[in-house]
Amino acid sequence: MEFLKGIQTRRSIRAFTHQTVTDEDIHIILETAMMAPSAVNCQPWHFIVIRDKDTFGKIMKVHPYATMLSTAQAAVLVCGDKKLQHDEGYWVIDCSAATENLLLAAHALGIGSVWVGVHPRESRKKAMRQLFNLPEHIEPLALVALGYPTETPEQPTDRYKPDRIHFEKW
Ligand SMILES: Cc1cc2nc3c(=O)[nH]c(=O)nc-3n(C[C@H](O)[C@H](O)[C@H](O)COP(=O)(O)O)c2cc1C
Repeated sequence: MEFLKGIQTRRSIRAFTHQTVTDEDIHIILETAMMAPSAVNCQPWHFIVIRDKDTFGKIMKVHPYATMLSTAQAAVLVCGDKKLQHDEGYWVIDCSAATENLLLAAHALGIGSVWVGVHPRESRKKAMRQLFNLPEHIEPLALVALGYPTETPEQPTDRYKPDRIHFEKW
């Protein structure tokens, strides 16, 4: 897929087919996530790969906007490591860059995905901590649901906003 077209055509996908997302594709997706930029190249991320349907069920019970997990074939919980980050708060930024890479890599492979927000909602973070036994220094950022799309969302035409662009000064 052509690079810019890939970035511009990525859309959140929330309905998936039964087709398996292979371990090989998960590997490529995570390899690409880990190529993201990070402050002082600290790479303060961890990824939990989830395929277990019971676990999806438990997440759906605690997360109000994760119903797409009912058809997802895999999911990745992106986590930040406070011991590895450059300085206080950097894990959020670095892991967000990794999450966007992850979404784009999935799209390039024809796999649909959606970013399911966890951070900064404390109740969701607490629930993820308990479900995945996260150590104290590990912070859950986002859950990404993955699978082959059954839907083709319309491409937005109105995201380019000239009034958001400023030249030289505000
Ligand atoms: C921080 C963040 C949190 C999000 N949380 C959810 C979520 O909990 N559930 C969901 O279905 N989509 C979630 N999304 C996806 C957004 O709804 C989606 O990106 C947005 O509507 C734009 O659509 P697009 O991804 O198709 O361009 C989240 C996206 C971001 C960046």
